[in-house]
Amino acid sequence: MRVVVGGGTGFVGRALTQLLRSRGHQVTHVSRQGGKDRITWEELSHSGLPLCDAVVNLAGENVLNPFRRWGDAFCREVISSRVDTTKALAEAIAAAEQPPRAWVLVTGVGFYRPSPTAEYTEDSPGGDFDFFSRLVSSWEAAALIPGSPTRGVVVRSGVVLGRDGGAISQMLLPFRLGLGGPMGSGLQPFPWIHIQDLSGIVCHALEKESVRGILNGVAPSSPGTSNGAFAQELAAALGRPALLPVPAWAVRAVFGAERAVMLLQGQRVLPKRTLESGYCFVFPELPAALRDIVA
Ligand SMILES: NC(=O)c1ccc[n+]([C@@H]2O[C@H](COP(=O)([O-])OP(=O)(O)OC[C@H]3O[C@@H](n4cnc5c(N)ncnc54)[C@H](OP(=O)(O)O)[C@@H]3O)[C@@H](O)[C@H]2O)c1
Repeated sequence: MRVVVGGGTGFVGRALTQLLRSRGHQVTHVSRQGGKDRITWEELSHSGLPLCDAVVNLAGENVLNPFRRWGDAFCREVISSRVDTTKALAEAIAAAEQPPRAWVLVTGVGFYRPSPTAEYTEDSPGGDFDFFSRLVSSWEAAALIPGSPTRGVVVRSGVVLGRDGGAISQMLLPFRLGLGGPMGSGLQPFPWIHIQDLSGIVCHALEKESVRGILNGVAPSSPGTSNGAFAQELAAALGRPALLPVPAWAVRAVFGAERAVMLLQGQRVLPKRTLESGYCFVFPELPAALRDIVA
């Protein structure tokens, strides 16, 4: 299969590219920078989609970049890097003489309203209550191609756990120093997925013709994981204590109140349709997922 991946140079994209190539697929990235096996977004808009069988979009400015102040300019970049790239790929698919068979977008569980108790499946409502939920709504809406023969799949991902980036890369140093701990109360749900499973779900969605619509990208045991339990498990995997809670005010001071919601609150999300579609998780449980990452 020839697969075009927007934002494929990033944390999730590198893992997906490796998996796709190991399964014999060819991968071309759409990137802000040209290079081998890449086209730029400008080339996409001028010359259209290269001949391919499937398209994925993973492009997006890192929301939790601690070096970027949360303000209007950053918010606009967070939105446009997702919605405009998704729109560009959807338009290119719609205009293709030979449309690809599959089109997969990765968004986030921020679609669902944070709650310590509510449990969400792919059929649950959301998408209309705060910045992140509205972002996911407009991101997913940008992917729609009315009347298209191309099969569409959206994977709503939880926090992606992996060795080479994402949340854990920022946590490893304090935890290794024994300075890690739960954020805020630590009671908030922590929806997580191992990077091998997020890549696996995207690959499954590309390869299995019967898969379409929304799939939740979270581990089956993640509805039972709180932020505090995650901190304990990460510390245990590293053989370190996790005694020092990070107070909510400190999280707000670093990330800004609106962005801190992502860390201080969480959703219990079930991968119901993902499991029903036949995806078999490599890391359904947190201890094994973390042992694999910190090994
Ligand atoms: N990581 C997570 O925990 C997580 C959780 C839920 C959802 N997601 C979503 O999954 C997708 C992939 O996540 P990731 O962690 O792999 O992301 P990432 O590594 O931060 O970035 C992915 C790629 O997006 C492109 N990009 C970054 N800023 C951009 C901008 N301003 N304009 C256009 N393109 C830009 C870059 O590609 P080029 O430099 O090649 O242009 C980058 O390699 C993202 O949309 C993210 O929101 C991730």
